[in-house]
Amino acid sequence: MNIITVATTPFPGQKPGTSGLRKKVKVFSQPGYLENFVQSIFDNLNGQQGKTLVLGGDGRYFNDVAIQIILRMAAATGFGRVLVGQNGILSTPAASAVIRKRGAFGGIILSASHNPGGPDDDFGIKYNLGNGGPANETFTDAVYARTREISAYRIVEPADIDLACLGETHIGAMRVSVIDPVADYAELLESLFDFERIAGLLARPGFRMRFDAMHAVNGPYAHAILEGCLGAPSGTVVNGTPLPDFGGGHPDPNPVYAAELVTALADPASGLSFGAASDGDGDRNMIVGRSFIVSPSDSLAVIAANYKLIPAYAEGLAGVARSMPTSCALDRVAAELGIPCYETPTGWKYFGNLLDAGKATLCGEESAGTGSNHLREKDGLWAVLYWLNILACRDEPVDRIVREHWRHFGRNVYARHDYEGIEAAKAEILFAELRQKLPTLAGMEFVAGRVKAADDFCYTDPVDGSRSDKQGVRVLLEDGSRVVFRLSGTGTEGATLRVYLERYVADPALHEIPVQEALAPLVALAEKVARIAEITGRKVPDVIS
Ligand code: G1P
Ligand code: ZN
Repeated sequence: MNIITVATTPFPGQKPGTSGLRKKVKVFSQPGYLENFVQSIFDNLNGQQGKTLVLGGDGRYFNDVAIQIILRMAAATGFGRVLVGQNGILSTPAASAVIRKRGAFGGIILSASHNPGGPDDDFGIKYNLGNGGPANETFTDAVYARTREISAYRIVEPADIDLACLGETHIGAMRVSVIDPVADYAELLESLFDFERIAGLLARPGFRMRFDAMHAVNGPYAHAILEGCLGAPSGTVVNGTPLPDFGGGHPDPNPVYAAELVTALADPASGLSFGAASDGDGDRNMIVGRSFIVSPSDSLAVIAANYKLIPAYAEGLAGVARSMPTSCALDRVAAELGIPCYETPTGWKYFGNLLDAGKATLCGEESAGTGSNHLREKDGLWAVLYWLNILACRDEPVDRIVREHWRHFGRNVYARHDYEGIEAAKAEILFAELRQKLPTLAGMEFVAGRVKAADDFCYTDPVDGSRSDKQGVRVLLEDGSRVVFRLSGTGTEGATLRVYLERYVADPALHEIPVQEALAPLVALAEKVARIAEITGRKVPDVIS
């Protein structure tokens, strides 16, 4: 095996965001761009020689090219073995499952999650540690630092490994094992839920579900688990073949991009009682009942409140965790259960320590991510199976379960407003002004209420004491309502401003007020405080979820 050392120079901007490095395919496919980043990851590892790396992605455009390059670089850096998903496919949760089950040293996941794919769209890469979770900020900062001074990368000659056939080959001394991308993951899910009971639900004449894989990675997983192991009728999974460009769609399971599913569930003629979808790399989920979309924050709270119905969690939850912008519905469940509820910055990497330390059993984010200590990634199909297990036990429709939850705990009315593709300079001005105003906001009166406190969220990890600051500007009102502002760390064009709005409504008589109506005073407050329209020129958000 001939290791070639190739001289290179740094590319600007190789800084990992909320979840790895995401750029346009056109950027990633520049000669040396991917190689520089991968070498910068490898240069920050310690002791990988002879160990196992897990490799796979969501099958998006450039996945196949990138995998061949990374295999050759893994051989050059001395990995003993790479486990790679057949055809280069591994959903993000499946990659986490494989890393953990096989005791791998780490893994590389190729995905830009819910961002569109294709020659003109997005690609992404991230490194996961031996616990199966995304590397922490200390590691990603070190990788970024390395990208700024890199002068060479190491690679072996082209090997052109056939990824279509299961089995073993070699690149020099390194074994390459092409594995079934579904098997380890399906086995894990089967160990958590009551599959027999779920199969019984799926066989009931009055129950019909649809799972929309959005032409993304979860197609094969959903076919194997829902239609295979659980016996759902064929046709339950739609858009189930992963396509490099996701069929030209936007593989993000929200009411805007999964509108077809929402419409089908609103049409009584469809006979559907339960709908679900997942994103590009299979870690996000959407849960839909008949004419009823479950907001991700509510879904997380319902999941926590119903833990006793699920075999893997029935003995009790150690604690729960949510990202700061996620609604406080979860906190109310935790308070009733008498367990801690942790509040972390946005991004799954912050849950890793809590899960490893056994402090949290369930975690979630408002961005349609839910998961548990079974993995170190959020897990779309896990959330769907959790809901199916609840439905199988409670024999009630989705909307009744959520409404009942509100009646018991009160309703945290919630919405996120996204302003996409804002000029970066304008976003900077907006935040600079906002941060400057923070000390003056407490005590101010708005139609929405009086401001109790305003700050820039700062997190100290309770396990390793590491600090992350500037994680989102919060305006907290006296009645518990909140407006949170942050900039996306996953976009690839300009800046995306996210405004998170939340209001607690205890009185069941008010639970059915339309969300936008209930939140209107908070939208007005957000505008007044941040001057969104004046600074960015945007009067309305692009996406409301
Ligand atoms: C978004 C979500 C965040 C999630 C991340 C990866 O990040 O808001 O909750 O962890 O995608 O799926 P953002 O673009 O807001 O930085
Ligand atoms: Zn994702």
